[in-house]
Amino acid sequence: MKKILTIVGARPQFIKASAISRVLTSKYFSDVEEVMVHTGQHYDHNMSDVFFKELGLKKEKYNLNIGSSSHAVQTAQMMIEIDKVIDIEDPDAVLLYGDTNSTLASCIVAVKRHIPIIHIEAGVRSHNKKFPEEVNRLICDHVSSMLFVPTYSGIDCLRKEGLNDDREHNYSLIQEKQVCLLNSPLVYKCGDIMYDNTLFFQEKANLYFERVYQKNELPKHKYVLVTAHRPSNVDDSGKLKEILRFFHFLINDLGLVVVFPTHPRTKKIIEQSKELKKLIDKSGIYCIPPVSFIEMVGLEKNAELIVTDSGGVQKEAYFMNKPCLIMLEETPWVELLETGNAKLVGNNYDSLCKGAKDFIERKNYSFKKIYGDGNSAKFICEKIYENLVVKN
Ligand code: UD1
Ligand code: UDP
Repeated sequence: MKKILTIVGARPQFIKASAISRVLTSKYFSDVEEVMVHTGQHYDHNMSDVFFKELGLKKEKYNLNIGSSSHAVQTAQMMIEIDKVIDIEDPDAVLLYGDTNSTLASCIVAVKRHIPIIHIEAGVRSHNKKFPEEVNRLICDHVSSMLFVPTYSGIDCLRKEGLNDDREHNYSLIQEKQVCLLNSPLVYKCGDIMYDNTLFFQEKANLYFERVYQKNELPKHKYVLVTAHRPSNVDDSGKLKEILRFFHFLINDLGLVVVFPTHPRTKKIIEQSKELKKLIDKSGIYCIPPVSFIEMVGLEKNAELIVTDSGGVQKEAYFMNKPCLIMLEETPWVELLETGNAKLVGNNYDSLCKGAKDFIERKNYSFKKIYGDGNSAKFICEKIYENLVVKN
């Protein structure tokens, strides 16, 4: 039996993990044991538990309860606790997702313990180290043994960094294979497991859409779906003000309403400012608590336009055939920009308004398949199973 330690901690990681866990449980239950660790980076019910329940994710065996703090403290505390779990579990590999501090802490501990790291969503680069995620991804990719890359642009990024997908891997001994995996990683282009997820939950999404509408007393009206949580957009109340003023433009000038599932980070900043509270308190702005993933898919599916700084939501807009304004200066998901269905607009009021007006007025959109065929998780699990070495 091969043992994999999956370490997750933040909302998008619970959702991603459900795609892989579904395949491991249905196809590899007698060959692979998955042990789930939750760092506790996200802990509110609607940022954590709801995903475990709704997506059928296996309950964590360990919750490290780390919670919120500075990058250094949060990462360091996670490292200490992850090291203890590795002592107890002695896994054959550690499975990590994306680019959060939970990913960073896990990869540093695992590589120092010579445990192969499987990194899902490898090769993703914004080329801007001011974003903590960029630093986390760079480090994780460079210590990983199996890198699963969603797109060709990701494969190119890794090649430029000397991580190739064309190496020869011949081993005569198991031990040799272990050392080889640590020093000469395997790189695969695999498509996007979040595309698998959105397809898998499509049907349920209609039902959940009704539910989220009723629960939050939303009006039957054309709406823009907005999410914002990047420190560069929300930690500075001046920047957040621009975004909220843009909501007024959507309502007053384009006749739309705004549905805004609000990340706890953003909610806190709004609550601390009288000016921001006043701006958000306007008829037509529906500032609702974070929703579940299937509710979110329902909201995405029925929106006129999606405006976001989320890595996940910008891709989901594309999966749902919706135009998307990305409130960032750069995105690692460059393919989205190339299609013309997504646009980088930063957080400036004028560019936000112009971007929204252009997209709402435009009628002809076409969406090609650029994120795989919905079977990425299956491919990833096959490769993990093929290459994972059980320790002696
Ligand atoms: C983290 C990730 C980011 C990811 C995002 C997904 C890092 C460096 N950042 O950002 O890459 O896009 O998660 O949502 O890992 N909070 C709560 N309740 C919670 C969680 C957070 O109130 O359950 C509040 C706390 O005040 C906390 C703040 O949100 O300080 C930020 O949380 P944190 O996990 O540090 O960063 P995110 O902005 O969520
Ligand atoms: N999401 C959700 N509920 C919400 C907002 C987002 O389930 O209220 C989902 C969204 O559909 C996507 C993921 O969370 O799958 C993205 O997470 P987030 O935006 O927090 O992080 P990022 O992708 O930017 O790292």
